[in-house]
Amino acid sequence: MSSDGASSRLLVRDLAQAVTPAGAATPLRGDDLGRVTVVDAAYVLCEDGRIAEVGRMADLGPLDGDVEELDGRGLSALPGLVDCHTHACFAGDRAGEFELRARGASYEELHAAGGGILSTVEATRAAGEDRLREAVRRHREWMLHAGTTTFEAKSGYGLDRETELASLRAIKAEGGSPTWLGAHAVPPEYEDADAYLDFALTDVLPEAATIADAADVFLERGAFDRNQARRYLEACRDAGLALRLHGDQFTEQGAIPLAVELSARSVDHLEATGDDGVRALAKSDVVGVLLPVAALVLGRPLPPARSLVDAGAAIALATDFNPGSAFCESLPIVTSLACTQLGLSPGEALGAVTVNAAHVLGRAHRIGRLAPGYDADLVLLGAPDWRHLAYHFGGEVVSAVVRGGRLEWQR
Ligand code: NIG
Ligand code: FE
Repeated sequence: MSSDGASSRLLVRDLAQAVTPAGAATPLRGDDLGRVTVVDAAYVLCEDGRIAEVGRMADLGPLDGDVEELDGRGLSALPGLVDCHTHACFAGDRAGEFELRARGASYEELHAAGGGILSTVEATRAAGEDRLREAVRRHREWMLHAGTTTFEAKSGYGLDRETELASLRAIKAEGGSPTWLGAHAVPPEYEDADAYLDFALTDVLPEAATIADAADVFLERGAFDRNQARRYLEACRDAGLALRLHGDQFTEQGAIPLAVELSARSVDHLEATGDDGVRALAKSDVVGVLLPVAALVLGRPLPPARSLVDAGAAIALATDFNPGSAFCESLPIVTSLACTQLGLSPGEALGAVTVNAAHVLGRAHRIGRLAPGYDADLVLLGAPDWRHLAYHFGGEVVSAVVRGGRLEWQR
């Protein structure tokens, strides 16, 4: 309903195509992941923020009363894209580090020397909540222009009570789904990871759990080990948070077995995952979130996407948008990489950035599909064939974005 109590309707008409993942299951796996329903010469009718109808123009009946119209000629409509893994709350940049890496320094070396994540921690702590909120807003706009209508964002660049909580509040205030990445790195004022976790779980978790939807840990050599990750995640689960892990990014440290044991929503990265990990994930309900931009930017092996899908694992794709390993907010670019570098089809990539990403955020009943009853979040691509999403590599492929049944942005 609009504020005056009248119903608000938006008709997106004369679309070349309206497209949605076809499989009904959540998350989508196996052959189901790649199946799409394409309606040619289509319309989408939105009513009070939800999708009311998707159909062929030829079947559109008369509409009484006020209806706003959006011209879809030459365009294709997809469900709004869902970015289920970003680090969008940070201050400063790492352009200098980018140059050092271009000249041969490794990400892990820079991290060990106090650069990398910890240099962003310094800038983020100095920013204050208002500037953090501005940063999230700016990044959210960038994402929106690339077709992202729902985003998750992690804290993890504060690592003190004040900045972690300010980060979570800033993300929530800007409409994101906040994840408490309280175990991202050990800040310099703590001697070791255990001492830092004592602080984080006692002093930050109780309030973080009232703001965040999920918790995340970086399980990796030089960050948190398996026992520390288990301790952190169990405490977060007991506080009511859904669980995520950064795992198998550089080395296998038992992230997949731990994620399965704790019924985590997802385990993310997987560049170092071997055959046993693929099999274990495929037998589980944990989603593997693949982040090809980070793998390519850091010159790491790509995650075994094809093996995971063929084995029956549920996968999602995300940007990992952050100032270090993936300064890229574009899910269309991620789908291009999925099709050209990970061996996925455009349909599989679409399912991975819609239904399955929504599932990771616990929201697949409301977003990720272009179907009656779902939130009226739509991306209109400036091409009559939806596969341009992945095909137009790095192009300005998004022509307009509708959120909650309202035109939110148009190129
Ligand atoms: O997902 N691996 C840990 N965290 C981020 C990178 C954060 C950074 O470099 O600032 C990631 O790649
Ligand atoms: Fe990440």
